[in-house]
Amino acid sequence: MLEGKRILIGITGGIAAYKAAEVVSRLRKLRAEVHVIMTESAARFISPVTLQSLSGNPVHLDLYAEPRFGTVEHIALADLAEALIIAPATANCLAKIAVGLADDFLSTIVLATKAPLWVAPAMNHVMYHNPVTQENLVRLRERCVRIIGPAAGFQACGTEGDGRMSEPEVIVDEVVRYFTRPALLKGKNAIVTAGGTQEPIDPVRYLTNRSSGRMGYAIAEALQEAGAETILVSAPTALSAPPGVERVPVTTALEMYAAVMERFPDADIVIKAAAVADYRPATAADHKIKKDGTDSNLTLELVPNPDILAELGRKKKPGQVLVGFAAETEHLIQHATEKMRRKKVDMFVANDVTKPGAGFGSPTNIVSFLFPDGRRVDLPQLTKLEVARRLVLEIEAMLGLEVKE
Ligand code: CTP
Repeated sequence: MLEGKRILIGITGGIAAYKAAEVVSRLRKLRAEVHVIMTESAARFISPVTLQSLSGNPVHLDLYAEPRFGTVEHIALADLAEALIIAPATANCLAKIAVGLADDFLSTIVLATKAPLWVAPAMNHVMYHNPVTQENLVRLRERCVRIIGPAAGFQACGTEGDGRMSEPEVIVDEVVRYFTRPALLKGKNAIVTAGGTQEPIDPVRYLTNRSSGRMGYAIAEALQEAGAETILVSAPTALSAPPGVERVPVTTALEMYAAVMERFPDADIVIKAAAVADYRPATAADHKIKKDGTDSNLTLELVPNPDILAELGRKKKPGQVLVGFAAETEHLIQHATEKMRRKKVDMFVANDVTKPGAGFGSPTNIVSFLFPDGRRVDLPQLTKLEVARRLVLEIEAMLGLEVKE
């Protein structure tokens, strides 16, 4: 299944390092070409000779060792990699990647490769739940690092909790899925909008909302994975565009409107995940608005922005798939269904942003898919990338592109 795929396995120093041997063995059975990179601490938990025998290739440990693989070995390896998986990834390793340190062979490879990166965290559950580790994981997710696990259960330190490395078969399944997923959307053009628009009041102030852009960025990643040429029309966010996705930066609703309308005639799929400001200040002051020295109120006059989704619904041609989002705080299904009918779209993704584990800034979401014929799919709490992949499956079905068994 992975015939000839060049996969790098990074192993860092944790008790789960012994399970990395099985990851390597499974990948080799699937006929991948596997190169192992170990940190010095990892070599205290498992012998490099084991990994060398299982992978059939020399193990890389020392940045300054005699090169066996091109003159600048870590760059040569980074270039040839089609996937890099770090399993186990310790808290220290996650922290190093999060800030971009490159002080050994593995961390240098992480910076030098353009290949997709998976990490399988493994550590004591208190270390895992430490806010700094959680912050590092958020930063990695924002940079499209794929995080596998961790699983919960008995820990080597004698306690129970989450922080165990996911089982080797789970890790290998993720990679197999990535390489074998049929690119059903190849040849299709997709536009995704993301983030919250900013509507200027004066040169230093603006009106905006709580959207982080994560859901839209995850959708762009899932569409790109499925083979679609994907454009991300993005309001300001702290996120980087997924590899292979073209980002068109915009700030205001009017700019987003122009960017989407210009590209709409060539689009097969449009997903409006952005939180577009419904109103903007009637005028943006040329200079910073000063206090007038009295205690009187300041009144801002707001004028409506164009409803981009509704306009797309009016212009939509047969064959174009249009998806809207509804972030609600009450009467979720009723409000979302009403919006879907009014805006004439093919599908709505509805989420109640007040639920824990859903909505703004959260790495997970709890959504329902609604369709004009009344069909409704309620999904459990999933990561935003998992929600995005489910959404892509629905779009493939709408386009008649389902995989035939
Ligand atoms: N949307 C849009 N242009 C706008 C406002 C919203 O394209 N000016 C899109 C959003 O990207 C989202 C959907 O419309 O896909 C729903 O947005 P929402 O603001 O929840 O709906 P509204 O119709 O504005 O309803 P309300 O603000 O009353 O909840």
